[in-house]
Amino acid sequence: MASGSGEVSGEALDHELAELLDVETFDPPAEFRERALLNDPAVYEQAARDPQAWWAKQAKELHWFKEWTEVLNDDDPPFYKWFTGGTLNVSYNCLDRHVLAGRGDRVAFHWRGEEGQERDITYAELLAEVQRFANALKDLGVGRGDVVGIYLPMIPEVVISMLACARIGAPHNVVFGGFSAEAVRERMEFSEAKLLITTDGAARKGKTAPIKDRVDDVTGDLATLEKIVVVRSKGTPCQMKEGRDVFYDEIVAAAHPDCPAEPLDSEHPLYILYTSGSTAKPKGILHTTGGYLTGVAATHRYVFDLKPDSDVYWCAADVGWVTGHSYIVYGPLCNGATSVMWEGAPDYPHKGIWWELIERYGVTILYCAPTAIRACMKWGADWPNKHDLSSLRVLGTVGEPINPKAWLWYHKVIGSERCPIVDTWWQTETGAIMITPLPGITATKPGSATHPFPGVFAEVLDESTGEPVTEGQGLLVLTRPCPSMLRTLYKEPERFLQTYFSRFGKDTYLVGDAARRDSDGYLWVIGRIDDVVNVSGHRLSTAEVESAIVAHPDVAEAAVIGEHDEDSGQAIVAFVTLQGDLVGDDQTIEGIRATVADRIGKFARPKRIIWSDDLPKTRSGKIMRRLLRDIAEGRALGDVTTLRDPAVTAQLEERVKELQAQED
Ligand code: PRX
Repeated sequence: MASGSGEVSGEALDHELAELLDVETFDPPAEFRERALLNDPAVYEQAARDPQAWWAKQAKELHWFKEWTEVLNDDDPPFYKWFTGGTLNVSYNCLDRHVLAGRGDRVAFHWRGEEGQERDITYAELLAEVQRFANALKDLGVGRGDVVGIYLPMIPEVVISMLACARIGAPHNVVFGGFSAEAVRERMEFSEAKLLITTDGAARKGKTAPIKDRVDDVTGDLATLEKIVVVRSKGTPCQMKEGRDVFYDEIVAAAHPDCPAEPLDSEHPLYILYTSGSTAKPKGILHTTGGYLTGVAATHRYVFDLKPDSDVYWCAADVGWVTGHSYIVYGPLCNGATSVMWEGAPDYPHKGIWWELIERYGVTILYCAPTAIRACMKWGADWPNKHDLSSLRVLGTVGEPINPKAWLWYHKVIGSERCPIVDTWWQTETGAIMITPLPGITATKPGSATHPFPGVFAEVLDESTGEPVTEGQGLLVLTRPCPSMLRTLYKEPERFLQTYFSRFGKDTYLVGDAARRDSDGYLWVIGRIDDVVNVSGHRLSTAEVESAIVAHPDVAEAAVIGEHDEDSGQAIVAFVTLQGDLVGDDQTIEGIRATVADRIGKFARPKRIIWSDDLPKTRSGKIMRRLLRDIAEGRALGDVTTLRDPAVTAQLEERVKELQAQED
């Protein structure tokens, strides 16, 4: 392994990174291995020999009101049930258990606001607030099984809201704060939410965005939505509708302080989280109680080698995505961890804020997305070099493939070559990490998520034969049930079967990613095989963006593709045909981007719009996205004679060249 200090920048750093590119594997440092929770590779064989016993052992780490009678019920695959007959409560496991064990004074979150505000919340404080809010929700008529929407930024109340729902058995449906009010409306409608928790305003890099008023603009006619709870966070004035809207602080103050956690069936729904699929309608991923908590707690403990008495853990994602659900809220709290929760962006108030926070709170474990690492790399090593990062001991990544250069920069500049990197592959659907190194065991290769977590079974299958590939590329699948997996798509069981289990049968979960297995058996996840685009780790469907674009009055037709992008992994490119003889100009482009921001959120706006008189279609009228990708990225097209109108492609190629010439 190459050596050198983390504090180099510019040319010298480039040179050292280039040297590291020749290093093929990175062993866990001996000292780390010695102290790691898991350091014996035999754990893999043990789990493989009897996966049910392995998961049952993990489930025993939780508090159960009543223990299960059966670990796995597989009477009706793929509708599996885990720990059947058992009852537990997620909020009890995340809060009461620690307080009862005398750990109430431990900080659960060091919350830090954009403008430098600080709030340390202990486990005891969190429990007290959650109980009151749970009672307030009950007072508003929310009961077991009622869906509660949550549309909040990164403030402590988002965690309190999730736990209060879990406490009374009301499944939550969190919508990421970057989604537009229109997207919130759609998700509330699909899930038939009874109540929505939102805020007056949200901080965005020094500005405040009005949230409640925007929500009001679009949710007025939702038949099932009876109440809206408003967290007064930024003092932004907002309308309150008599009889429907209430302020969070007022109802919490009026609520009874004791709310015992309800014993819930192991398969009771914990949450619904909407994510993008191949069609415009998002999929409501349903996670339940016992299996999900078992999966997130075990992976959080072992993948990050968590020592809750001494570690300070920071997952720099947003609670609105599954990463936030599993690894900001449920995993860390269940394990009694102390975490950092940061309200803002990585570049506000300055580009070194992450490193400042790591020094300030003595963060030992950092978990973030490769996109953020690439951005930091671009801003330069001088920012992190200004801070003492010596507290760090484990680094994690999630959400998209990490390119080796970004991996090496993370390893060298942030980890000073001392911290194992865990590149964790998983999905909203899997609920918990599935493929990952174990930091005290696995020799890592930059860019590879390495091996399935113990008790997880993954294969790469040949696309045409469906046979396992021992070396080479194919489709990634999971071949056995796993406790943290989604149970179904909310109210769409047929779509669940069709999406994940129609290709290889009911025993084999089709992930939707292509992957490669190398000669050492390491797994390399390449990217999606469906029409899902991953922009800065945010999952979007091309159909969803297309349907937003055609909502613009001037647009007749649109086709969206993801193209490779150095910063965001993938970027959205839209080919757009306008109505009649309309000619697109900068104003139309801005109008289309604004429509997408309104319908989905700013993060979904196309980076490039290419005007096209027509789109390349087969004779049956299907848009050939593969050709559009080739055109956008300037590749040779080959045979286009099967197209309805082969001349279309030549015109588009011409347009792309013109655009590139303009950009240069
Ligand atoms: O394509 C894979 C990519 O992100 C997809 C899942 O997206 P989402 O459900 O939004 O969950 C993201 C956070 C868990 C996957 O199908 N992906 C996720 N992690 C990795 C990854 N691709 C490569 N390497 C990873 N570590």
